[in-house]
Amino acid sequence: MIRRGVILAGGKGTRLGELTKVTNKHLLPVGPYPMVYHPLYKLTGAGMTDVLLVSGTEHMGDFVELFGSGKDYGCRLTYRVQDEAGGIAQALGLAELFCTNSRAVVILGDNIFEDPLHAMMADADKHPDWAWVALKEVHDPGRYGVAELDGQRIIGIEEKPKNPKSNWAVAGIYVYPPDVFQVIKNLKPSGRGELEITDVNNYYLQQGRLGSTKMTGYWTDAGTPESLLHAHQLVNEKLPNYK
Ligand code: G1P
Repeated sequence: MIRRGVILAGGKGTRLGELTKVTNKHLLPVGPYPMVYHPLYKLTGAGMTDVLLVSGTEHMGDFVELFGSGKDYGCRLTYRVQDEAGGIAQALGLAELFCTNSRAVVILGDNIFEDPLHAMMADADKHPDWAWVALKEVHDPGRYGVAELDGQRIIGIEEKPKNPKSNWAVAGIYVYPPDVFQVIKNLKPSGRGELEITDVNNYYLQQGRLGSTKMTGYWTDAGTPESLLHAHQLVNEKLPNYK
C-alpha cells in the first residue's frame, strides 16, 4: 500500500508568547533550519514523495513561499487549510482525499527526533492495517499522551494525565491505515473541545490494531520556550537522522 506523508503545522503557538505573535511556531529556528524542515526531511528521507502540509489561514502563505511545489525538497507538496484549530485529529481529517487508499505517515510539525523514520515504518509495515505510534521515555509525561504498558504491549493511552501510569510518552509520529478517516468522523470533542489523536489511538487499541516502536535517540516537542530551546540544543549537537 502506498504511504503518504502528512505534516500538521497549525495551531496558534500561544505557549510561545511573543515568539509567535507574527509568525507560525513551525517557522521558528531549530538548529540550522526552520522547525518544519525537520518533519519534512524525515518524510522525504524515508522515501515519501507526496507530502501534505496542514496549517491555518494566517501563515499558509509563508509555508508556500518557503517550500513552493516541493521540487527543491524532493517531493510534491500539497497544502490544506485548517480554518479553526480543532485538534490534531481534526487537522488529520483534512488529509482524507490526499490519502485515498494510502496509509498516512503523520508527523506533528513541532516534533524533533533523532531516530530514522524508516525504522518505525519497517515495524509498522508488518501490520499494514494497524495504527502505529512511537514511544519515548520522558521525565515529564503529564505534558503528553502517556502509554500504559504491560511488558512491551500498550494497554491504554491517556492524554495529559494528572497521574501518569508510566514515563512513556506517545510521540507525535504516527502511521495510520486508510480507515482512520472513518474513525475521526465518529470522534466526539474532548473536555478541551478538540478531536484528540489519543482517542484515535485508543480506538485502534480496543480493536487490537495498535503497535508501537520505542525510540532510542532523542525526541522532544518544541512548543514551549523550554522545549524549543532544548530542541535547538539537541539539533545543534547532533542533526537528526533523516533516513
Ligand atoms: C500532542 C498530543 C499528545 C502528544 C504530543 C506530542 O500534544 O495531543 O498526545 O504526546 O502532541 O508532541 P500537544 O503538544 O498538542 O499538547
